[in-house]
Amino acid sequence: MLRDSNIVLGITGGIAAYKIPELVRMMTKEGAKVKVVMTDNARQFVTPVTLQTVSENPVYIDTFQMTSRSEIDHIALAVWADIMVIAPATANVIGKIASGIADDLLTTVVTAVKSPVLLCPAMNTNMYTNPVVESNLQKLASLGYHVMKAASGSLACKTEGPGRLPPLEDILEEVETIFTKKDLQGVRILVTAGPTQEALDPVRFITNHSSGKMGYAIAVMARRRGGDVTLVSGPTSMVPPQGVRVVPIESALQMHQAVMENLDKADVVVKAAAVSDYRPARFSPSKIKKEKDALCVDLKKNPDIIAEIGKGKGNKIVVGFAMETDDLIENAKKKMTEKCMDLIVANDLSEPGSGFKHDTNIVTLIDRSGAMERLPMMGKGDVADAILDRVSALLQKMTV
Ligand code: PMT
Repeated sequence: MLRDSNIVLGITGGIAAYKIPELVRMMTKEGAKVKVVMTDNARQFVTPVTLQTVSENPVYIDTFQMTSRSEIDHIALAVWADIMVIAPATANVIGKIASGIADDLLTTVVTAVKSPVLLCPAMNTNMYTNPVVESNLQKLASLGYHVMKAASGSLACKTEGPGRLPPLEDILEEVETIFTKKDLQGVRILVTAGPTQEALDPVRFITNHSSGKMGYAIAVMARRRGGDVTLVSGPTSMVPPQGVRVVPIESALQMHQAVMENLDKADVVVKAAAVSDYRPARFSPSKIKKEKDALCVDLKKNPDIIAEIGKGKGNKIVVGFAMETDDLIENAKKKMTEKCMDLIVANDLSEPGSGFKHDTNIVTLIDRSGAMERLPMMGKGDVADAILDRVSALLQKMTV
């Protein structure tokens, strides 16, 4: 989403400014072009040379800087920007913007810019909770500025509380969200992701190779598109996505319970989790000892969660996945019909770059009308978007 986007990054004079070269690096890694505007005070915390090096662009500081450029800097930058991000945004710059003061290059660019502006406040807790600063932030939010909440924790001034710069990953996610169309605004989406673990004893369990990447990508993209997302997640090492309600579970029975508890509140269900079809019939409360040469474990069938959802689905849109090693399309179509899904995403484990653990997937989307589309190998984020495009179209069909 950030690829080829133009970001004007404003830096003001707070200690968190030392983190911003890393933010520039993260943005350019995603393909964005970044131009930095600094206040004079920001130079006390981070050098223009560092920012020029990481952004590979000149750094803008002085409104009256004599350059060979024929354009007026603040207007040229304002026109160039697809978004302006101010990080850290101090109480001072927030107050100036809220009052329409444009007395340096940064505040002049903000006043002239027509693109979205994202403010990332960072300051001492007493300053952040000062009613004047709070009311300035509220005013700016009501005027359409995007305002992030400061993070809480220990601050450079040795106090604890809100006022830290939001994590850089969250700032990047917010920029992505601002750029994303909101075709799923307010749609309640229940996503499952990851594997389940079926315990044999306190030490061992049966599981599969799911990393959670596919399901988490769907949750992230659905939230960016305006969805109200609940993610029921098996054990994974994935970072909980910003703005998504995560319900952690371990076993298929727990996933079943969590899904059923959240089902009434869902308009759309996307089941990307790799659920164990069976669990050990008996759980041994103590560690099973290595005594015999062979050990037989009886397995019991787990509830088929998506089949149960399909049975009483009403107006809900139900999207399932099919993961196969043989006869992918045939098996996927059968699953879709038998379990009353609206859409099935078939991924073939035998194809390199598809299925478990990879950052990519190769899927075929099949819907109830029998329409089928095989997508090329894509990042899991792009696959998630393609699935959500279909969900969005189905929702639109339901409203006409
Ligand atoms: O997590 P990653 O490493 O990114 O890998 C992604 C993935 C390969 C796990 C994912 O793309 C995927 O294919 N998920 C579904 C895997 C699966 O369990 O497929 P299945 O064909 O066994 O199940 C069909 C559907 O029924 C799935 O939507 C599954 O969530 C659901 N199911 C299965 C069994 C069960 N007891 N209850 C269910 O709801």
